[in-house]
Amino acid sequence: MNILVTGGAGFIGSHLVSKLLSLGHDVVVIDNFHPYYSAERKRWQFHTLTSGYDVPVYEVNLLNYEKVDEIFQRYQPDCVYHLAALPGVPNSLLQPLDYVDYDIKATINVLKAAGEAGTKHVLFASSSSVYGDQGCVPLKEEMATGNVVSPYAAAKYGAESFCYAYANLFGYQLTIFRYFTVYGPWGRPDMAISQFIRRLLRGEEIVVYGTKTARDYTFVDDIVNGMIAASHRNGNNDVFNLGSGRPVAMEQLLEYLQKYFPAMKVKHAPERAGDVNATWADITKAQQAFGYKPTVTFEEGLARTIEWAKRHEE
Ligand SMILES: NC(=O)c1ccc[n+]([C@@H]2O[C@H](COP(=O)([O-])OP(=O)(O)OC[C@H]3O[C@@H](n4cnc5c(N)ncnc54)[C@H](O)[C@@H]3O)[C@@H](O)[C@H]2O)c1
Repeated sequence: MNILVTGGAGFIGSHLVSKLLSLGHDVVVIDNFHPYYSAERKRWQFHTLTSGYDVPVYEVNLLNYEKVDEIFQRYQPDCVYHLAALPGVPNSLLQPLDYVDYDIKATINVLKAAGEAGTKHVLFASSSSVYGDQGCVPLKEEMATGNVVSPYAAAKYGAESFCYAYANLFGYQLTIFRYFTVYGPWGRPDMAISQFIRRLLRGEEIVVYGTKTARDYTFVDDIVNGMIAASHRNGNNDVFNLGSGRPVAMEQLLEYLQKYFPAMKVKHAPERAGDVNATWADITKAQQAFGYKPTVTFEEGLARTIEWAKRHEE
């Protein structure tokens, strides 16, 4: 298949591109190497994960519709994974308007260009943050109502709605994924697990925000396998949770980390505005629709992430 990946040089995107290439697909990437975190790191992760393959990478901002349209017309992709976005809840409180640009306006450009190019299937990266703060309960897809607690989540929820609008206008198939806290090798450097491991390797103290928090941490390979399985589904335009279905409490995470870093020092700080207390994915819908089955346990995923970090982050 001819596949276009936006945000293909990012954390999840570069793992997805790597897997698609190994399956024999033709892949083209659009990524503007946004400085939210180091562009150099993005180049390093992308080149490492795609070594041995020649992948066209367009360093283009999706806000430039003319350029985006030109690339879509040239490649006529059968399928588009739209992952490009400005991530990060805390930053969205500081720069809310950027999230309207990068997470909504850029998405509209992709949706329109895909329609004009005759793309058959658009798959969009949304987030568990669209559920808002509902306590530690299994979150089912129909429980998102727009009652969210950060500009990032509001932008993702709005973008989901634009996805439906353009899928209905152009008639392509739409799959929306709501990822739950993805981690693994090359994990996004601003996210808790990556930050903790990096600091612990340097012997630095880690800062934990809030008390009694929990996250449905999902290993990146499980997310990628789910995204690829969903590309083969035939059905209605729909939204699916991609999580592990097994939330890990902060105290548990700290216990696991202490096994690797016995001298670990932890500082506790008040919870940050915009953060939800807990996430827990109900993954039944994705299991039934395309056989989604996460296979990497948290213990194994964490071990693999620490192993990777020792080789790359010290
Ligand atoms: N990592 C997670 O736990 C998580 C959870 C929920 C949702 N998501 C979503 O999954 C997607 C991928 O996340 P990630 O963690 O890999 O983030 P990432 O920042 O590593 O990747 C996003 C990529 O998109 C690119 N990009 C951003 N805006 C762009 C634009 N206007 N034009 C071109 N390229 C642009 C960036 O340069 C970056 O390489 C995002 O949409 C994110 O919101 C991630």
